[in-house]
Amino acid sequence: MSGLSLRPHAKINLGLRVLGLRPDGYHELRTRFQTIGLTDELHLQTAPSGLQLRVEGATLPIDSSNLVVRAAEILREGRGKLPGAELFLRKRIPLAAGLGGGSSDAAAALLGLNLLWDLRLGTEELKRVGSRVGADVPFFLVGGSALGLGRGDEIVPLHDSHPFHLAVVLPPLTCSTREIFQLWDERHLPSLAAPETRFSGDSDGDPVEEPSGRSVRNDLQDLVVDRHPELARYLDWLLRHGAAAAALSGSGPSLYGLFGSRAEALRALSGPEWSGVNVIECAPRGRAEYWRGLGLPLSD
Ligand code: C5P
Repeated sequence: MSGLSLRPHAKINLGLRVLGLRPDGYHELRTRFQTIGLTDELHLQTAPSGLQLRVEGATLPIDSSNLVVRAAEILREGRGKLPGAELFLRKRIPLAAGLGGGSSDAAAALLGLNLLWDLRLGTEELKRVGSRVGADVPFFLVGGSALGLGRGDEIVPLHDSHPFHLAVVLPPLTCSTREIFQLWDERHLPSLAAPETRFSGDSDGDPVEEPSGRSVRNDLQDLVVDRHPELARYLDWLLRHGAAAAALSGSGPSLYGLFGSRAEALRALSGPEWSGVNVIECAPRGRAEYWRGLGLPLSD
């Protein structure tokens, strides 16, 4: 095989609990990831040598600071002489939006290069490589609904969620995940007796549950809304237009509302208040649909 075209998907977090600060400086998380029908395109081709990336649709670095290049470089490490690759990335998933676009592109690069370079690595080995690229990467090697534990890179696959539809708000802002977690530290560390607390299982619902008003709570939401107060208005509009629940995805700024049908989601987004706001209707992608959409056979 010398070329491959893949469609990396975005994710949302259907609930995100921050449990404490870990000795490695990361935060201990409990989150429910869900792949959704918003995709980039990644075209990969073998080349005689070297790694080359071209990007369309966004301004992104094309050196090792790009997660796709970094994934390819880590994959090559210690594997002797391998051919090179030419990669072409067409971006549609907004950058630094809490939708995991960069991590998903990196996971697709790992899956694609594993095939093109005939490395025959299994999912567990790819997850180990992926977690060195970024904490969200291993999830995209599983897809569908999954619990993310540890740094978010310990993945427990869940059954596909009951069908629902999403209205996703894409504010024209970027949020640095690192900065949002620093804000969490400033607000919460002084009051935590031991920084590494355990999940308390309080009454607000656990992300392992089916998505609901209780379980989609995101512990980073208030911090991000304090920084960007217009997000509170969007959450309120989603709820007033019939969303069963509305929450921030990841470290934001993207937000979503959950609806029972596509028609309800579209109706909620049709009001004049959304004029000038980038909103989309989309559906979750279950695991089998995710792999079909990505363009690869379902992983083991
Ligand atoms: O792993 P990734 O590079 O995507 O994470 C970006 C930043 O987000 C990390 O450098 C860290 O500051 C923060 N982070 C964290 N705890 C996590 C995941 C990310 O503190 N579980």
